[in-house]
Amino acid sequence: MGVILMREVLQVLRDGQFHSGEALGAVLGVSRAAVWKRLEHLEAELGLEMHRVRGRGYKLASPLSLLEPEAIVAACRAQGWEAQILDSIDSTNAEVLRCLAAGAPAPFLVLAERQDNGRGRRGRQWVSPFAENLYYSLGLRLEGGVFSLDGLSLSVGLAVLRCLREQGVVETGLKWPNDLLVAGRKIAGVLLELSGDPAGECQVVIGIGVNVNMLPGSRVVIDQPWTSLRECIGHLVDRTALTQALGRWLEHYLSLHAQGGFAALREEWEACHLWQGKEVSLLAGPQRIDGVVLGVDSLGALRLDVAGQERQFSGGELSLRLRNDS
Ligand code: BTN
Repeated sequence: MGVILMREVLQVLRDGQFHSGEALGAVLGVSRAAVWKRLEHLEAELGLEMHRVRGRGYKLASPLSLLEPEAIVAACRAQGWEAQILDSIDSTNAEVLRCLAAGAPAPFLVLAERQDNGRGRRGRQWVSPFAENLYYSLGLRLEGGVFSLDGLSLSVGLAVLRCLREQGVVETGLKWPNDLLVAGRKIAGVLLELSGDPAGECQVVIGIGVNVNMLPGSRVVIDQPWTSLRECIGHLVDRTALTQALGRWLEHYLSLHAQGGFAALREEWEACHLWQGKEVSLLAGPQRIDGVVLGVDSLGALRLDVAGQERQFSGGELSLRLRNDS
């Protein structure tokens, strides 16, 4: 099925209500009898669950919020960002890096309805089903020196946190370095990737994944406890409006970061850190360091009290665990 046709059918089905074979046949340009075959194809291709009930027609198991490219591009333009909205891509981070390498203007935003190879921190996969969540990558070109990369991912975490709290998930908190959690379950994550020379000319892509409308019991399998905006606030979230809100918060925090570095945001970050004062284990591959969280320094490194001595840790491969359910 062509991309345009697919969008048209989904525009009809997205409300999660029943639609007759005749109505769908008219959109698809096929007879009533051929509709189910086409929808089965859509189901398999996009991983959507479809119901068919004799006498009532066809419906999606759950309503969908599709991205509205025109509205998103317009909002980005108003911020001075270029934007591209894709149906499907390996990874929006990878796509931004490719576009910047090919000379695309920056800031450059790529969003996708789904990712086939979404990338998470520490080499993990980021599960990215069709039209459920936000897969958001903003590429920046840095000319060296002025804009500090230190602590940038933590500043981005704050922007995402403010956005989620604004949506009504007021209990969202941060876990160093840049996980967003609600009651111990992950709702969003941030992955920064760099190319070029970090001390000179380089490109950075700020990758943000937010669990938006995915619900437990859906077909997705994720190897860690998770939740979504929809689960927290109890209704389907408009992903276009959410994208625009996230853009505004990011612009705000990137500008604060550009002016004062992470140092200007350190206190605010610590106030939202769920694990301040907690007993933790820091894992670096097979190595494990036990300590108590003191906070973060002005570059975003984790400050731990390890056997009475303060030590600082930074690096993308590190991960934190709580000890003794402290
Ligand atoms: C994490 O592991 O917590 C970070 C997850 C980051 C996922 C996002 S989704 C959009 C962007 N594209 C990717 O491939 N990854 C990031």
